[in-house]
Amino acid sequence: ASTLGAAAAQSGRYFGAAVAGGKLGDSQYTTILNREFNSITAENEMKWDHTEPSRNNFTFGSADRIANHARSQGKQLRGHTLVWHSQLPDWVKAIGDANTLRSVMNNHINQVAGRYRGQIHSWDVVNEAFEDGGSGALRSSVFRNVLGTGFLEEAFRTARTADPAAKLCYNDYNIEDWNAAKTQGVYRLVRDFKARGVPIDCVGLQSHFGNNPPGSFQTTVASFAALGVDVQLTELDISQASPTAYATTVRACMNVARCTGITTWGVRDSDSWRGNDNPLLFDRSGNKKPAYDAVLTVLNGT
Ligand code: G3I
Repeated sequence: ASTLGAAAAQSGRYFGAAVAGGKLGDSQYTTILNREFNSITAENEMKWDHTEPSRNNFTFGSADRIANHARSQGKQLRGHTLVWHSQLPDWVKAIGDANTLRSVMNNHINQVAGRYRGQIHSWDVVNEAFEDGGSGALRSSVFRNVLGTGFLEEAFRTARTADPAAKLCYNDYNIEDWNAAKTQGVYRLVRDFKARGVPIDCVGLQSHFGNNPPGSFQTTVASFAALGVDVQLTELDISQASPTAYATTVRACMNVARCTGITTWGVRDSDSWRGNDNPLLFDRSGNKKPAYDAVLTVLNGT
């Protein structure tokens, strides 16, 4: 196959991109997006600050624009994200009462996941809840501090009811190295959810890499999959986009049956949040980079 999406589809996988709604009027951008990718993630537009800027005031204009683009182009849609400590409005951060916060969190999940019910293949239900560094524990956030660690379980149970067809993912960064304490913390969470029947279907490895994926990357993908969840590479970008680094990363996913899809965090280097790292598969003029050819070759299994 001659595009990323079609090549990935040969093995039942998707190959997606994060999309900024404000760029959908850029014809070079949309030409590449529509041609190459078969899944779309809103880069910012489904986050809490966009969808519920003040309490129970839901604003879906920019998110709908992306969802409509996906629908009209026949693309799958990933949901990012329901519960996250960042891009969280101050009014949520200021809640100190557990009953209030619980009801606010569940209402947010019900309203946002409910609006796109049936349209989202996978939701990042909780994003980046674990602390960086050596503890393997949850980070400080209004959710953990006011509701306790049980907020994750509650969020997943609510999301299941709000959109029963969507796969429910836990998504984080720096959990790609099997030997990292953060990875092990997430692993214990997923194992515990599976053991207790808490609804979880997937783990999102964001995969924001330096020049290379960690040497243990495929072990991490396979180890999460062995818990009985899908694994998705949800925000892939690699500093300087070495073809070898991209090929190794994509091959790790292809080598694990339950690694079901890959999303790059943007389309062209000029769309990346990483400034001058040039971490994506298309250059600033919209041309395919050498890493693009390397990825396509791996997806085609040749
Ligand atoms: O839209 C406003 C614009 O009106 C304003 O003039 C400008 C001035 O700062 O800000 C614009 O908003 C920015 C927004 O991106 C859109 O460009 C925000 O400041 C900026 O904080 C925001 O950054 C996003 C970041 O998440 C926020 O945490 C990035 O685009 C987005 O790529 C990034 O994505 C995250 C994932 O959600 C989670 N994992 C990590 C990943 C990379 O940080």
